[in-house]
Amino acid sequence: GADGYQLWLRHRLIEDPTARQQYQRALSFVDAAVQGPTGNSAVRELRSGLTNLLGTAPATSPAKKRSQGIYLGLRQSSSRIRQYLQSNAVEDLGPEGYHLASYQGDVLLIADQEQGLLYGVFDLLRAIQTGEDLTNLQRTERPAYQYRILNHWDNLDGTVERGYAGFSIWNWHQLPEFIDQRYVDYARACASVGINGTVVTNVNANSLVFRADYLEKAAALADVFRPYGIKLYLTARFSSPVELGGLPTADPLDPQVIAWWKSKAAEIYARIPDFGGFVVKANSEGQPGPREYGRSHAEGANVLADALAPHGGIVVWRAFVYTDKAGGDRFREAYDEFTPLDGAFRKNVLLQIKNGPIDFQPREPVSPLFAAMPQTPLLLEFQITKEYLGQGTHLVGMASLYTEVLGTDLAPNQAGGEIREYITGMAGVSNIGTARNWTGNLFGQADWYAFGRLSWGPELPANTIFREWAKLTFGPDPTVVTTVTELLEKSYPACVNYMTPLGLHHIMATGHHYGPGPWIDDLERDDWNPYYYHGATRDSVGFDRKASGSKALAQYPAEFARQFLDPTTCPPEFLLWFHRLPWTFALPNGNSLWQELGLSYQRGVDQVAEMQTLWASLENRVDRERHLHVSQHLAIQAKEARWWRDACLAYFSAVSGLPIPAGVTPPK
Ligand code: GCU
Repeated sequence: GADGYQLWLRHRLIEDPTARQQYQRALSFVDAAVQGPTGNSAVRELRSGLTNLLGTAPATSPAKKRSQGIYLGLRQSSSRIRQYLQSNAVEDLGPEGYHLASYQGDVLLIADQEQGLLYGVFDLLRAIQTGEDLTNLQRTERPAYQYRILNHWDNLDGTVERGYAGFSIWNWHQLPEFIDQRYVDYARACASVGINGTVVTNVNANSLVFRADYLEKAAALADVFRPYGIKLYLTARFSSPVELGGLPTADPLDPQVIAWWKSKAAEIYARIPDFGGFVVKANSEGQPGPREYGRSHAEGANVLADALAPHGGIVVWRAFVYTDKAGGDRFREAYDEFTPLDGAFRKNVLLQIKNGPIDFQPREPVSPLFAAMPQTPLLLEFQITKEYLGQGTHLVGMASLYTEVLGTDLAPNQAGGEIREYITGMAGVSNIGTARNWTGNLFGQADWYAFGRLSWGPELPANTIFREWAKLTFGPDPTVVTTVTELLEKSYPACVNYMTPLGLHHIMATGHHYGPGPWIDDLERDDWNPYYYHGATRDSVGFDRKASGSKALAQYPAEFARQFLDPTTCPPEFLLWFHRLPWTFALPNGNSLWQELGLSYQRGVDQVAEMQTLWASLENRVDRERHLHVSQHLAIQAKEARWWRDACLAYFSAVSGLPIPAGVTPPK
């Protein structure tokens, strides 16, 4: 309904009678040859989706000789599919791929394993929802990555770290007996966009989750997810052998500690045979880790990896580390810590790297680690929850950020240097909670959707994803689709403009990270102070990361770093990430740095006003409930874009002594 609970799986009756009849005729039956639980969920999804979209339930076999319908199954499963394959070569589809084809009036969905059928079904339903012509259907799809994982920063007490959509959807208290329908709908939604793993606990982990009763609860969740092809992972607190096991140490090289992890892994697999593995945040922001015992990250990770290996599990070790180093540069730290360890990790350890070197800023240059760990499989971590991008109120289409990162080319002189080529998978910090529409902000759904679609097909353009989501979420009205797509496209550059233009970063107010705080400079650690990241004085602003400064630029491949070295040619959007410049510095467009900063803030404010106008134009085309919902959030965003502009410009103007530039509405 209009409350948004059904996400992009609304499957509303196709209103246009001609289109509906065409689909009814072409899809009159579903002839399914499946055996396992995943194949069965595929068929169930297809049947209910078709029933809702077409208004009639499909038959299970052709009613008449001439009826047209869907044949779905593995290669050898039905004579119809075998017949097709005799004259049409279909390459190996892998464990998750599928082939969709129209064949003599019928639609065939073929896979090598049943999980592929599930993804094929959701593709087919999406095709019908978006009005695709099925008569020329012919496509083979395989996911680009094996690992497509949501990370929930959910605590066992029901709170969600950096969660802006209510509380955790996992009701640990009532598990394992009570299975909320939400868990099933969650799994359907994830599977429908290709997500195949979920970490249900916070990276700031609690060892309690390894206690027998909690493992039983986790196993109940895994049972719900399994038929949707989703593996369950847990975060592992490095000190669990002490806190839960009662051992005197968690030193990874201690024989008792090694034994503890082994037996814990065996206990988990006894309950969850397809358990995915552990995600670990170690020696970061107060979390325990191997460094406390003088051991490296690799020594720590390997002990957990050895415990999981016999069962087929993986360790996802996070690269998000930074220490309290006065005068240091947080940008450098993950690289400095991890590059010496390349090759030292077990085969089943994956390193999970945030897209940027600092922390999910509105716009960051990519992390230099991606190109520096050739022997280690890498996961790219994005934040779906918008900790630094307006959280639960601002509309920001994150697909723009994701695609910019995935497409960043670290080896401009060679083929295949894009970030998406360096990675084995993607992790996304979830933005969902108990909010009726899952994400609180309705447009947050688009970010969950985009993350999933990109983890399957990282080359999809943001525009395609926006358009798809708009159709699935609001229906086929072309005006709505075009307008919503435009709104989403505008939103990301707008946010960067009104928050952190020209490469400003980490200037959000401390702690909650909501709203501006570039003046804050009184925290005990340099790397927590917003002021540290721009250091504005009367003369200049920015962070020098060249050879004359922190030398962080040298962490990139030279070919990639080159574009940033010279401030006169550095892409303006990254300027203050790498350079400390006088306010009078002339930009390529002729404006001074100060003018351009002011005009960028103003542009951000103006862009949000345009977004409001776009949305207002849909008043009679979108249901009242969702229209009002979005309008109210946009009003907050507009107010807060002005807040960002006014606060930042008032502050920088006071520091620099320069007047608010012409063309910028001055702060009141
Ligand atoms: C950010 C965020 C923390 C989170 C951390 C992480 O710093 O503010 O809440 O725990 O990232 O990714 O581990």
